[in-house]
Amino acid sequence: MAIKVEVIEDLSTLYRRATRIIAEQLADGAKTFGLATGGTMLPLYENLRSSNCDFSQCTSFNLDEYVGLEKEHPESYLSFMNNRLFHAKPFKQSYLPDGEAEDVQAEAKRYEALLQKNTLDFQLLGVGENGHIGFNEPGTPFSSETHVVMLTESTRRANARFFNSIHEVPKLAITMGISTIMRAQCILLIAVGEKKRAALEALISGEISEQIPVTCLQKHPNVKVLTDIQLKGV
Ligand code: GLP
Repeated sequence: MAIKVEVIEDLSTLYRRATRIIAEQLADGAKTFGLATGGTMLPLYENLRSSNCDFSQCTSFNLDEYVGLEKEHPESYLSFMNNRLFHAKPFKQSYLPDGEAEDVQAEAKRYEALLQKNTLDFQLLGVGENGHIGFNEPGTPFSSETHVVMLTESTRRANARFFNSIHEVPKLAITMGISTIMRAQCILLIAVGEKKRAALEALISGEISEQIPVTCLQKHPNVKVLTDIQLKGV
C-alpha cells in the first residue's frame, strides 16, 4: 500500500515532524499548497509561524469554506487562515472558496476551474470523525469536483465547539471534491486523538467505500499519515 503511516505518541514531536515535512516540500521546490483548517492544524500553523519557512513565492488553495458566514466572522475559514498563518507567513497568492458569493454553485465551478489550472504539489488534510475530508461527507462520489455541500448533523455538532451553539454552525459549505483532492501530487494527513480512530482504521485497513470518504486515499500513490493513535499492525 502506498500509505506511509507514522505513529508518534508525543504531540509536540508529531507536530515538529509535520512542520519538517512541509519545510522539506518547500526545499524540494513545491510551489502550490493545499491547506486545511480545523483544530488539528492549530499546532502545525503555530510551528510554521515561528519557523523560517518562506511561502512568499508560493500559492495556497484551501480545501473548503462555510457558506453564509461573513468573511470577517472569526470562524470563517478565511479568518482562521489569516489569524493562524497568513498574517505571519504570507503566500504570493492565497485562494479560498468565497462562501459569501451570490451564486455559490457558480463559485464552486469557478474554484474548481482555478484548481484545474493549478496542480497542487502538496495537500494537507485532517479527517472528520465520520471520515470526511474537506467537507466531503459520507456518500460523496469519489468522482466529485468542487461543490456545495449540506453538512451532516455529526459534522455540525463536532464543529459547534468553535461557535456559541450548534445553531450558529452553517448548514452549507463549498468544498474541493474527492477527485479534486486526489489530483494533488502528495498528501499529508494528520489525525490526532481517539475520536479519529475509526476513520483512521478505515483508511489504513478498511474497504474502499464512498461511505467513508477518507478511504479514497488508498488509491493515491503518495500519502503520508501522522497520528498519535496506536494502530494494530502498524
Ligand atoms: C472540519 C474541516 C476539515 C477538518 C475536519 C476535522 O469540518 N472541514 O477540513 O479536517 O473537520 O477537524 P478537526 O481538526 O477540528 O478535528
